[in-house]
Amino acid sequence: MLPYVGGDRNRFTQQLFTPLPSRYDRLAEVLSMGQNGRWRRAMVDRIVLASPGRVLDVASGTAGVALQLAERTGADVVGVDLTLEMLSQGRRNIEAARRSDRIGLVAGRAEQLPFPDRTFDALTFTYLLRYVDDPQETLRELARVVRPGATVASLEFFVPPNPFWHVMWWLYTRLLLPVGGWLTGGRDWFRVGRFLGPNISGHYRRYPLAWTEDAWRRAGFENVGVRVMSLGGGLVMWGTRADG
Ligand SMILES: C[S@@+](CC[C@H](N)C(=O)[O-])C[C@H]1O[C@@H](n2cnc3c(N)ncnc32)[C@H](O)[C@@H]1O
Repeated sequence: MLPYVGGDRNRFTQQLFTPLPSRYDRLAEVLSMGQNGRWRRAMVDRIVLASPGRVLDVASGTAGVALQLAERTGADVVGVDLTLEMLSQGRRNIEAARRSDRIGLVAGRAEQLPFPDRTFDALTFTYLLRYVDDPQETLRELARVVRPGATVASLEFFVPPNPFWHVMWWLYTRLLLPVGGWLTGGRDWFRVGRFLGPNISGHYRRYPLAWTEDAWRRAGFENVGVRVMSLGGGLVMWGTRADG
């Protein structure tokens, strides 16, 4: 574990993700009903349009997003994550894909990134804001490390707004996800399956989408855009770092 871990939430996150890496890539697809790949591609599309030279991928985990960034852009990519075991699997994935020349992985916290101001031309972050104490301050920290004009894009789970799909989503996340987690990955994935639904609902009760869009603007992003995907199961957001 990182010696400078920030607080209880960072510690909880590390404990949640530490046992997951060996099966993470396969099970992330299965448990999102095959949607994670589509959502990830839609997020990376925003970065491809910007043709960046250096990209930071925050909450990089097993480096799935970092690999896609390297494949679809000419950029050098740095991935940063809190959980060393996720990064170790990420390193293996990068070596297997022969992308070590273009992708580097660094241990660190999104809340306190180990980079100078304005280092990157673009930035992605995935499934991050539910794991930080202060999403607004974290967005400010992300904005700090990109240059003015940089494109930033994110991917998160969301809660379907339509009442019928909301009930279906609730049943899926509260029943199928824990049971499916247990059947495919045992106790560790049961824990994740049981945690995710209430965590996603709680996050959007506290930080609704309108709040999140404003939080991006307050952090220094403009042209903030939102794409709700898969009937509301996924959320891709993007923006441009304003001058100043
Ligand atoms: C669901 S995984 C996503 C991994 C990868 N981005 C992907 O899409 O496959 C979430 C990752 O966020 C990382 N994470 C959570 N909180 C973090 C923080 N405060 N700083 C850096 N990484 C964090 C976890 O360690 C975990 O690897």
